[in-house]
Amino acid sequence: MTVKRITWRSLILSCYMTENPSPKPTKKAIVSKQSSFQRISMTDLSSSTLSEDLSVSLAGSNLYVFTVAELRVITQNFSQSNFLGEGGFGPVHKGFIDDKLRPGLKAQPVAVKLLDLDGTQGHREWLTEVIFLGQLRHPHLVKLIGYCCEEEHRLLAYEYMPRGSLENQLFRRYSVSLPWSTRMKIALGAAKGLAFLHEAEKPVIYRDFKASNILLDSDYTAKLSDFGLAKDGPEGDDTHVSTRVMGTHGYAAPEYIMTGHLTAASDVYSFGVVLLELLTGRRSVDKTRPHREQSLAEWARPQLKCPRKLGRIMDPRLEGQYSETGAQKAAQLAYECLSHRPKLRPTMSSVVKTLETLKDYVDIPMVTFVYTAPGESDSNKESVKECDSPPKELKRENGNQNYGNRHHGHRHHRTKSPKSQSVYSETALNQNIKNGLNSPRKA
Ligand SMILES: Nc1ncnc2c1ncn2[C@@H]1O[C@H](COP(=O)(O)OP(=O)(O)O)[C@@H](O)[C@H]1O
Ligand SMILES: [Mg+2]
Repeated sequence: MTVKRITWRSLILSCYMTENPSPKPTKKAIVSKQSSFQRISMTDLSSSTLSEDLSVSLAGSNLYVFTVAELRVITQNFSQSNFLGEGGFGPVHKGFIDDKLRPGLKAQPVAVKLLDLDGTQGHREWLTEVIFLGQLRHPHLVKLIGYCCEEEHRLLAYEYMPRGSLENQLFRRYSVSLPWSTRMKIALGAAKGLAFLHEAEKPVIYRDFKASNILLDSDYTAKLSDFGLAKDGPEGDDTHVSTRVMGTHGYAAPEYIMTGHLTAASDVYSFGVVLLELLTGRRSVDKTRPHREQSLAEWARPQLKCPRKLGRIMDPRLEGQYSETGAQKAAQLAYECLSHRPKLRPTMSSVVKTLETLKDYVDIPMVTFVYTAPGESDSNKESVKECDSPPKELKRENGNQNYGNRHHGHRHHRTKSPKSQSVYSETALNQNIKNGLNSPRKA
């Protein structure tokens, strides 16, 4: 397949030409049909990305170039009332573009992400998002509409997602609890997004799969956003990509944290953590809980295979309104995704297949009753006995079996994720290995 060479000089050079801070807001940066071109990977850009003389091939983008002034107007000067959320890159504000802004660009609400110039992220993360999201298009990836690169400013404009992030929906204190079927729909949508990335012609490892990066459309269609840490997958015979350890505590796979070896299976682990969050209504790391319950994956995994224990860790806000069979299947899936042996984890396409079947379980009780007939008590004891001796692997991974079932109901509405915890670097990794990163209570 021939790759049409289109220079991106205009895009990147304009980021460095401080004497000309306002690139002509005329048309889309590049317009082409993605299907006929190969995706440009970050490795194709190599070090020239950060130099002044960047000229690369790029196909598949359909992005608009905006000026800071335009995005200021759109977001009412990044007003607090338009604030949507914030992660490691910087604040995100809602805006509205009218149909006069650019020919062909329809009037619509947008979300504008603005680089925090005092933060830890910068041009690299911005460019990574532009390169990946600018070329990848899928119903379960958020659509990047355009960007701005002016002097030191870096901004991104996405389609607006009316229901915000899964983090906000699941953990917000005063919201109605997400019903079981919606949770499974979200899990399936997000899984499809990840499967698409992993199975692309040039596979992509997302690397920062977590509730705050899963955005929800009005009908709860899940879309992955925030590609700032995405990586091209291994090429040729390579089994992994060696990289600095970046990600989020509580979601990152243990082997990636320990070795820096990144594979698609690292994303699968993070998916398992999000699935647990959906099942339990608990955050991946919750410092307000007793020590042994602070890391969701460590605490919950040993309890996933036993229906009796599972019932106790399910989100109390569901009030029992879920399919028991569905919950058991989802728990089994989470258990497999969270295996400490990456090779034993399922692929994302197999996760999608399993989640597809969960829609069919409709045994959701209308009213919850528990009645134990005297004659049944013996058979109940049998099943309790079975559950009390967990599989060997569980014992090995977590010696503590007395985890109990305490729900403290502490939920914190936090739109702004603390940056220091969100992304950690190599330095932090080494420190964490010394402290035992796998126990987030120490991290
Ligand atoms: N397109 C969008 N529509 C609605 N809300 C969004 C959108 N993009 C981001 N947000 C909100 O802003 C938060 C931070 O966005 P994100 O892209 O994850 O930033 P960061 O790269 O700083 O982590 C999200 O968790 C979400 O609450
Ligand atoms: Mg984020």
